[in-house]
Amino acid sequence: MEVPDAVERVLLNEEMIRARVGELAAQISADYADVEDLVLVGVLKGSFIFLADLARRLTVSHHVDFIALSSYNRGAISPGAVRLIMDTRTSVTGRHVLIVEDIVDTGHTLEYLLRNFRARKPASLRSCVLLSKPERRQVEVEADYLGFEIPDLWVVGYGLDYADRFRTLPYIGALKREACE
Ligand code: PRP
Repeated sequence: MEVPDAVERVLLNEEMIRARVGELAAQISADYADVEDLVLVGVLKGSFIFLADLARRLTVSHHVDFIALSSYNRGAISPGAVRLIMDTRTSVTGRHVLIVEDIVDTGHTLEYLLRNFRARKPASLRSCVLLSKPERRQVEVEADYLGFEIPDLWVVGYGLDYADRFRTLPYIGALKREACE
């Protein structure tokens, strides 16, 4: 696969991602082996590829639903403000919810999601996140299942974007600094 000019280097190649997603799916399948009603809640847009790959490797039955958030205002008037712009189609009350995210950066989004979903009284609530940038954390929040810790670089591919571009690259690459300016 060709690497676009804006990408400085490949951080995680397809094989590394495939292997780690398989490990996460195996761990989740074992942990939820006795669970009746598992629902994966993908956070659009970034999680769509990770969720598709993860879900297909789970050996436990599950449902898939989505929410969409807006990061409008982030860093401006109210840093870290998150707004729900599309909710799940089905109720999660009494069900086992696993939130699926592509990345935890400052932590504001995951913290908001956990708070928001806890209020819906699920039977259980956990998160599965592909990437974490611990150096960037502003609120103390960690994923229950984590793919990789990465350095503070702007990463794209495998669902992650820069200005809505590069989401469908099959690997995760670090953008050149000048491409982010
Ligand atoms: C990204 C990512 C997380 C959030 C993490 O979403 O998908 O939802 O940022 O950042 P935080 O830890 O600093 O809150 P983005 O707003 O880029 O939207 P997208 O998923 O549609 O690309």
